[in-house]
Amino acid sequence: MIREMQHTGERSREEMEYERAHRRVAREAAREGIVLLENQGILPLQKGTKVQLLGAGARRTIKGGTGSGDVNERESVSIEEGLRRSGYELTGQKWLEEYDAVYEQARADGMKLVREKEKKSNFVEAFFSTPFLSPDENRMSEQNVEEGDEPVIYVLARISGEGTDRRNEKGDFKLSDREYENLHYLQEKKRDIILVLNTGGMMDLSFLEEFSQIQAVLYLTQGGMEGGNALAEVLSGETNPSGKLTDTWAMQYGDYPGAADFGANNGNLETEEYKEGILVGYRWFDAQEKKVRYPFGYGRSYTEFSIQGKEAVAEEQQYFLRVQVTNEGGRSGKEVVQVYAGMPQNTENLHEKKRLVAFAKTRELAPKESQVLEFWIPEDALSYYDEQEEKWCIDAGSYCFYVGNASDNLQTLLKFEQEKKVIFAEEKKVKRTGEEQSRIEKAARMAEQLTDAELVQLVCGAFGGEVSQLGNAAQSVPGAAGETVGLRHGDVEVANIILVDGPAGLRLSRHYQTSRAGKIYPQTFESMVEGGIFEKPEPKADAVDYYQYCTAFPIGTMLAQTWNLDLITKVGNTVGEELEHFQVTLWLAPGMNIHRNPLCGRNFEYYSEDPYLTGKMAAAMTEGVQAVPGVGTTLKHFACNNQEDNRNHVNAVVGERALREIYLKGFEIAVKEANPYAIMTSYNKINGVHAANSEKLCTKIAREEWGYHGLIMTDWATTLNGAESAGCIRAGNDLIMPGAKEDHEQLKEALAKGTLERGQLVKCASRVIATALHSNRYV
Ligand code: BGC
Repeated sequence: MIREMQHTGERSREEMEYERAHRRVAREAAREGIVLLENQGILPLQKGTKVQLLGAGARRTIKGGTGSGDVNERESVSIEEGLRRSGYELTGQKWLEEYDAVYEQARADGMKLVREKEKKSNFVEAFFSTPFLSPDENRMSEQNVEEGDEPVIYVLARISGEGTDRRNEKGDFKLSDREYENLHYLQEKKRDIILVLNTGGMMDLSFLEEFSQIQAVLYLTQGGMEGGNALAEVLSGETNPSGKLTDTWAMQYGDYPGAADFGANNGNLETEEYKEGILVGYRWFDAQEKKVRYPFGYGRSYTEFSIQGKEAVAEEQQYFLRVQVTNEGGRSGKEVVQVYAGMPQNTENLHEKKRLVAFAKTRELAPKESQVLEFWIPEDALSYYDEQEEKWCIDAGSYCFYVGNASDNLQTLLKFEQEKKVIFAEEKKVKRTGEEQSRIEKAARMAEQLTDAELVQLVCGAFGGEVSQLGNAAQSVPGAAGETVGLRHGDVEVANIILVDGPAGLRLSRHYQTSRAGKIYPQTFESMVEGGIFEKPEPKADAVDYYQYCTAFPIGTMLAQTWNLDLITKVGNTVGEELEHFQVTLWLAPGMNIHRNPLCGRNFEYYSEDPYLTGKMAAAMTEGVQAVPGVGTTLKHFACNNQEDNRNHVNAVVGERALREIYLKGFEIAVKEANPYAIMTSYNKINGVHAANSEKLCTKIAREEWGYHGLIMTDWATTLNGAESAGCIRAGNDLIMPGAKEDHEQLKEALAKGTLERGQLVKCASRVIATALHSNRYV
């Protein structure tokens, strides 16, 4: 039976128990995601100590990026608040107060600019093309920085988001002139500086060499609503930092593969050639033997760990490794053990020197305490995609395993020869349970009974008038990104399902109103972005108020920096409960595109440069979410959405091997291990074909090769921006989101012309129905 949809959220503004419980999980994730990059002994810094807090992110701490990945939480704890709450004595507020004024002015100017641009296009376009970046800092001087010898915590901030890439320029990837001057000022005053990076991604840190007064560097990243509290814990040593980088931090931007050609750098936003092939991230730096600033997997602690190999054996179709981790220092803490496969270099085929094949985080180890970790590594962890064979193979050659706590701090555990090349005839496939099978069959029978017009309705999202790219197209749950159509035809009854954005939590409207009779007053896109600063809807008299407070978790990259799969599953489970609480079925997350280049504007939503780490994170997240009955994840953006400028039209020219090994691998792992409810295709083209229209991606690879039987949907308004509506259905892309009248027209026309067959529509519609049947919309 279909569940009656209630108005979601609370009638009262009071903090609910679920909020408190979920915040605790957000804090746990934040505390484990912080990476200590440098420490010359100044940290930890005892609570109660006097510190001077400066920098753009100190009070205006950035909790996450902009766009659909934003979350409308109740409140976020800034770094200033976090430090104060944990008992630090903060001196001299003058500089921060001046920066407040700078910030407010910049915000007002930015909003004005959006309004001006809006006159020439529309609000959505104007908004996306005018991201608000934290304004440059005011000058530090004796007038606004208090003299003293207490340490300075200096917080650099950067924000980025959907629709626009970052730039390798001052004020973005590089320090601004003013930030540089300010560091100089502090250096000259001989202040000890603790640098905190409140950024969604990397920055050029070459200035570190110049400022000897910088005594410690912490990569806070963007920690969600609990970021400030988590940072205070790490600064004070209450939490020993255990986060590790999920990307390679090069000495300079130009060291990244294809840096000069990336996105707007070469003036060509139409075509992006992935010339580096499989050599992305550390694979590239290994091949080039190029020195890096911080290697992949790197992160320091306030204690020292030793890692000892205990056993390493080759077994039937797998390898077994056992290592012992011991806390050799004087403070308790956690360590991450990383296992890499050393790939053969003596073969005809190119292979990366090493690749991550396993990892685990220890429990909190007291001084002198040890823990034994065991790893089973399946032999296909060593495979590569052979373009001639069109199969996964293991090359003949010399292999080994390395273990350690960073990609540059490794010991060899096992060396072995692979005598003959192995070709895998069949791939492992997603297992289908009996229950799933009968649901799929039932859905197919239901779809068969529907008229063409009804099938068309089901494969397009339910749009309520205006279509917006950054979704707020749902009608039943205000602020949700979209919903599907519910319908009834004789005995066939299909529930609508609601879809909500992520990946840093749920993105819903904080507040909405209904009439006394229960009709939801619609909200505009303007009122939904950035906490409603562009438009505060006039509260209606004689209306009923509802409040929807969602938990803002750390951004995707920071979650991955925990390297703690159990913790990610716990975050997922919390998200799952929130989905159920708000009667939503699909979470439009995790985001799992590869950090191909540090300037991609949406890297913050994604996990890493490494496909294995990405896949494991997404699988753990999915397992957590889907442990709650009736709700599921949507892996996105499938695939190669590695830049934001011209994201709807850019053509990613990528070789088959890199596509399989780097850009699809994470999706493959998550699909096979965790069987997510849904996948979302990306906006861009891949080798000339829009991902949304790619039969190869949706049908051949995902369904036939991997055995995926869930739902595939488009990204929002893809079909209004280059991809064809009928092309989606032909490709096996089941659901066109958020749905538009043009989609209906195109599909009907294609049916009439015979360029789309009813059978193709039935297949897609039956997958939409199967998802609805699997959802929390039934009792
Ligand atoms: C984004 C997606 C998001 C969708 C719905 C699109 O603009 O690319 O990641 O899920 O909007 O809001």
